[in-house]
Amino acid sequence: MTEPAPGSAEPVLRVADLHVRFGGRRGVAHVVRGISYDVHAGETLAIVGESGSGKSVSTLSLLGLVPQPPAQVSGEVRFGGRNLLDSSEREWRRVRGNDLAMIFQDPMTSLNPVLTVGRQLTEGPELHLGLSEADARARAVDFLGRVGIPSPERRMDAYPHQLSGGMRQRVMIAIGLACDPQVLIADEPTTALDVTIQAQIVELISHLQDELGTAVIWITHDLGVVAGVADRVLVMYAGQFVEEATVDDLYADPRHPYTHGLLGSLPVLGVDRPDQLVAIAGLPPDPTDLPSGCAFHPRCPYQLDERCADEIPPLRDIGQGHATRTFYEVPDAAEETAS
Ligand SMILES: Nc1ncnc2c1ncn2[C@@H]1O[C@H](COP(=O)(O)OP(=O)(O)OP(=O)(O)O)[C@@H](O)[C@H]1O
Ligand SMILES: [Mg+2]
Repeated sequence: MTEPAPGSAEPVLRVADLHVRFGGRRGVAHVVRGISYDVHAGETLAIVGESGSGKSVSTLSLLGLVPQPPAQVSGEVRFGGRNLLDSSEREWRRVRGNDLAMIFQDPMTSLNPVLTVGRQLTEGPELHLGLSEADARARAVDFLGRVGIPSPERRMDAYPHQLSGGMRQRVMIAIGLACDPQVLIADEPTTALDVTIQAQIVELISHLQDELGTAVIWITHDLGVVAGVADRVLVMYAGQFVEEATVDDLYADPRHPYTHGLLGSLPVLGVDRPDQLVAIAGLPPDPTDLPSGCAFHPRCPYQLDERCADEIPPLRDIGQGHATRTFYEVPDAAEETAS
């Protein structure tokens, strides 16, 4: 939604008014409701929100990985001068892995168990970059080394089950980056890993991103994991962005009550981390039965405007790339305790 700063280059990816609906017996589930954002070369964007808010579906649809039907995807995904949503399956295959790549949460389900690591790593470069078998192999070994796999040459012949969870995740990253994509989508690639390895993986992607100039979209329900590497954060709730800001602004001056909730539930450093960090009263809405007005209003402690229950607040620009979807200003926590 933010316009590029004056003088900055065109975005590499522009998502405009993206909607995803699923038709079913229980009615239509409107799970992505008009999201827009730009991704600039080399930048790191974080999309954060509770389970079910539409983070995965919205990014899978950028790669044509949400099957239609049952889904209905509309809007614009502008990349390389065209709307990817108009692509044929053949065109999608050319884009996927090559221009836009994705790393998934669970490497065991996205790595092929019957193919060696080497085969899975050479496939993309052979297909998309037109490399010979030997060149693709050399590139694969190089990338395995870059992601911190010891004795990469030897690991080329390993099958996924012969590697630890952290190693498999590193292989996924190598596959994701092996074709030098312009944008890498990392969909919670660290949730299955322990905290130390999570930190290493975040660090690793960030380091490779600097080296290769790749833009990264991090998807997470735990802002704490990516706060150190993200430039901008998009906070997602019930299929919409409710706040957008630089990571510093978001921490220093959150403007949406949902963001307040998310940040308030971040654990204190050194304290045991619960699995589910989001602790906001109530549950996210059912996408087949969304509340009227602001989707967050039934859980909102403020509701300071009479329109909250009737109208969807617009994503309001409050300056310097910071925007919030509220009709009113959330009271300052300090003033609130004083009064
Ligand atoms: N194939 C499908 N058919 C119908 N509904 C679906 C389908 N895939 C996803 N949904 C629904 O879309 C909504 C958004 O799902 P999505 O997977 O994008 O959430 P998420 O934000 O990635 O959550 P999590 O943090 O748990 O990964 C959910 O309500 C989910 O049930
Ligand atoms: Mg998801």
